[in-house]
Amino acid sequence: MVSFMPQTMNLQNDIPRHIAIIMDGNGRWAKTRGLPRVQGHRAGAESIREIIDAAKELGVEYVTLYAFSSENWSRPSSEITALMRLLEQFLESKRKDLMRQNVRLLAIGQLHRLPPATRKKLDQVIEQTKDNTSLTLVLALSYGSREEIVDAVRSIAQAVADGSLQPGEIEASHIADSLYTAGMPDPDLLIRTSGEMRVSNFLLWQISYAEIVIFDKYWPDFRQGDLFEAVAQYQKRHRRFGAL
Ligand code: IPE
Ligand code: IPE
Ligand code: MG
Repeated sequence: MVSFMPQTMNLQNDIPRHIAIIMDGNGRWAKTRGLPRVQGHRAGAESIREIIDAAKELGVEYVTLYAFSSENWSRPSSEITALMRLLEQFLESKRKDLMRQNVRLLAIGQLHRLPPATRKKLDQVIEQTKDNTSLTLVLALSYGSREEIVDAVRSIAQAVADGSLQPGEIEASHIADSLYTAGMPDPDLLIRTSGEMRVSNFLLWQISYAEIVIFDKYWPDFRQGDLFEAVAQYQKRHRRFGAL
């Protein structure tokens, strides 16, 4: 059993099937230590390793990590290059662990915008882990929810133009099935670090009924015990979905 598990957490039931995380605050973590921002991103990769272990331990089915947003392309090119290198290193170093832990990797976002070397590494690990059956780890890369919705609307509009779908037949399920997350359960729990109270274009459709837990600490300081704490808070919530 992992340490730091809160007494209040129920391991037998009410474990969120899908946890989505906005990993924020790497740059500020580095700044408070007088380090370059990239060191914050490097430290943040360590938190990811911990969180995968903890999520597996809990029996969570999906963990989606917001790793790089559509808007993050507007950062200085030096930071973007550093982030892509780190991602490649992460994928290379995690490949064996993911196989050993039976974790399947997926990615959502406008992946065609990633540098070719990063995309290649990503595709390799996705292919290698595709039959793994415990946790599914989803990396949101070059991801923006509005872009995702635009892409979905385009594909639905195409079906209407082709005559295979009538406008009046369009249901919420058509939209859900046209998002990058098609086939995944919606997140039950959304975690954001660094104290920011916003969703920053992350999974807008999918988090409609997610329970939100915000941590003041920066992502590189996020540990297994914090994930357990978030799940304990989730278990105390009364999810009503609009009913009584
Ligand atoms: C989160 O940390 C990681 C990415 C967005 C890639 P930030 O880089 O946003 O760090 P802060 O929020 O500026 O401290
Ligand atoms: C959200 O963090 C994106 C990721 C964690 C990848 P940002 O730092 O980019 O978001 P804002 O700028 O605070 O909204
Ligand atoms: Mg940030």
